[in-house]
Amino acid sequence: MRKLLFAVAAASLLVVPAAVQAQAPIVIKFSHVVANDTPKGKGALKFKELAEKYTDGKVKIEVYPNSSLYKDKEEIEALQLGSVQMLAPSTAKFAPLGIREFEALDLPWLFKDDETYSNAMKGTIGKWLFQKLEAKGITGLAYWDNGFHMVSSSRPLMKPEDFKGLKFRISGSKIADQYFRLMGSIPQIMAFSEVYQALQTGVVDGCENTASNYLTQKFYEVQKDITVSYHAHLQYAVIVNSKFWSGLPPDIRAQLEKAMNDATDYTNLIAHQENEDALAEIKKAGKTTLHYLTDADRKAWQEAMRPTYTWAKGRVGQEVLDLVAKELDVKMN
Ligand code: LMR
Repeated sequence: MRKLLFAVAAASLLVVPAAVQAQAPIVIKFSHVVANDTPKGKGALKFKELAEKYTDGKVKIEVYPNSSLYKDKEEIEALQLGSVQMLAPSTAKFAPLGIREFEALDLPWLFKDDETYSNAMKGTIGKWLFQKLEAKGITGLAYWDNGFHMVSSSRPLMKPEDFKGLKFRISGSKIADQYFRLMGSIPQIMAFSEVYQALQTGVVDGCENTASNYLTQKFYEVQKDITVSYHAHLQYAVIVNSKFWSGLPPDIRAQLEKAMNDATDYTNLIAHQENEDALAEIKKAGKTTLHYLTDADRKAWQEAMRPTYTWAKGRVGQEVLDLVAKELDVKMN
């Protein structure tokens, strides 16, 4: 009898953990570097809400905002290793993988407006660029918008000469490196999480970013002058570890794809207004002066930055430039 009881108890010990295991949700860690209260931050939380709803709790999304899990450079490496499953880096950050073509999107004054940008990414360019990631074990799921860059420093930036000798933080793109150099300034790549302190302590004099990032990272508190220049565009690629993604049960993957599509529509819909609201808040705080370019100023910037286009060929290659030129109907030199 004792033997039998012992056997039953032992069997139930074996059975319970297995049953518990079968119900354990699939966990997706989604890491990013910005605040929750930004287009990307809100997009990640929307994806979490929808993914958990559509999969009926079979998938749990853990969102890690504000570089709380990984900083810029580390996060893509971690994705390849499978330590994190989902990221949304800006497309300026793929060069360390040996993929330079995404940097074509950083060309100054490339997208005429939000609509031109959005049509381009939904079309051939977006798909073509995502194919480049596959060989690196990364699958691109969506592009998320964050609008146009402003630029700032401790003095007003109105003419190309105003940039002379100033050190600017850039996020990684050599195209940005080039256009800042053409303005006579000294660009420096730095992780996003380090920018506030670098501006505060004078390690760099200025930076470029969108209004929502200026507001939520408090850059506007340590920059006396911001020029609402909208000289380049900031966009994200939502990416996953390919092995993880293709290993998911097909029904779950389909539900997650639907959640991603819906979260993408939501993010791209709010991006413009989020940045407008952020700009209004920065203005209201009164800690910085906003400057706007006249048509003549803008023309002078465009002319000064223009050689980036011919320089880009040696950096990103002719193929992507041809593609962009065709899709956007722009001249590359
Ligand atoms: C940056 O590093 O400035 C941006 O990529 C941050 C972001 O993700 O918006």
